[in-house]
Amino acid sequence: MPSVTFVEFSGAKHVVDVPVAENVMRGALYNDIPGIVGECGGGLACATCHCYVDEAWTDRVGPPSSPEERDMLESAAAEVKPTSRLSCQIEMSGGLEGLIVHLPEKQYD
Ligand code: FES
Repeated sequence: MPSVTFVEFSGAKHVVDVPVAENVMRGALYNDIPGIVGECGGGLACATCHCYVDEAWTDRVGPPSSPEERDMLESAAAEVKPTSRLSCQIEMSGGLEGLIVHLPEKQYD
């Protein structure tokens, strides 16, 4: 099972396994990672799963996967950067083994 490293805003790191075909937001929730809320359950209706993909991974993860994700990112509570993604829209695959995502300072205003 591929591992993902979540780096909290404080710098605290959590390395967890996330099943292939599961999304990164659920991987965080299953492992009680602070800093990811996932309020809408992955329905592209909240932006509380905002994360910053580590720059070493942006090519493999890619940009927002749909116009809906791009639109929803605009309502993220923290600064939106070129590496911003909604983690519920990142599907795990074997190619993402070792993925690193950074969590924003806040998920709510
Ligand atoms: S969990 Fe709501 S948009 Fe990702």
